Formats: sequence, structure tokens, C-alpha cells
Amino acid sequence: ATERTFAMLKPDVAKDSATVNGIKAMIDGAGLTIEREERCRLSRRQCETFYAEHAERSFFPDLVRFMSSGPVIKLELSGSDAVKRWRTLLGPTNSAVAREKAPKSVRALFGTDQQRNAAHGSDGVESAKRELSLMFK
Ligand code: CMP
Repeated sequence: ATERTFAMLKPDVAKDSATVNGIKAMIDGAGLTIEREERCRLSRRQCETFYAEHAERSFFPDLVRFMSSGPVIKLELSGSDAVKRWRTLLGPTNSAVAREKAPKSVRALFGTDQQRNAAHGSDGVESAKRELSLMFK
């Protein structure tokens, strides 16, 4: 089915235009369309709200600090099976694991570790709706 999903290029890559263009080319190559794009800096508060489901995890404070440390690029993607397609293109959360298991994925190519992993993708249709409405007012 045609779906929409939320993608976000994180502060470890959003400042580097060559990397941003590389990721956009991968999105295009996967048959996904960028419907909306916005570059911004997220406040700590916005990061806490966005990642609320991880609030009890030990990595949460670090994650909020990282995500609010510099610009991000927010994208709305559309296409056939967009949620899963973008998650597959991203690869595993941990970039080191991605380099083992999915060497051509976004996180394998552009991420660093389990936190600085280049990009985010909604994990389902419902979270895509929540994240898109949260991030595109
Ligand atoms: P993301 O897909 O945006 O969803 C939650 C984020 O938390 C994840 O990418 C990583 O940036 C970060 N994260 C997930 N697991 C860990 C972990 N074990 N240690 C540090 N950061 C993590």
C-alpha cells in the first residue's frame, strides 16, 4: 500500500551536504518520494517528546543531548510500503552491526555507533502518523 513515513537525518550527518545528498540519492533509488523537507534544530524538550517511549532507558539523556546538539533534517517520505522500505534502507540501529549485516544500508555507510546512527525512521504506520504530526506543525 502507498504509505507515508517520517525520516530524520541526525546531527552527526545533517551538517555534511555530501552525506545528506548521498542519503537523498538512496531514498530516490529505493523508489521513495520526498514530500516535505525541513532543516531545523530541535530543543531538548522536543527531543524528549519525540523519544518519549525511551524515557526510562539509560541512554535517554545522552540521546536527547545528541539530538539537540546540532541541526537535523526532517523528511516526509511517501511510496509503496514506505515505512518498511525506509527501515530496510536504514539498516540495524547500531551502525557497527549494520556494517556486518547490511553493508549497503544508510547506517552502515554513514553512521558511527548505536547512538550516532545517521538517521531515524518510524517503526510503523501509527508511529509515522504521530511523528509526522509532531514534527510538521
Ligand atoms: P532511532 O531509530 O532514532 O531510535 C532511538 C534512538 O536511540 C536510536 O535511533 C539511537 O540513536 C538511540 N539508541 C538506541 N539504542 C541505543 C543504545 N543501546 N545506546 C545508545 N543509543 C541508543
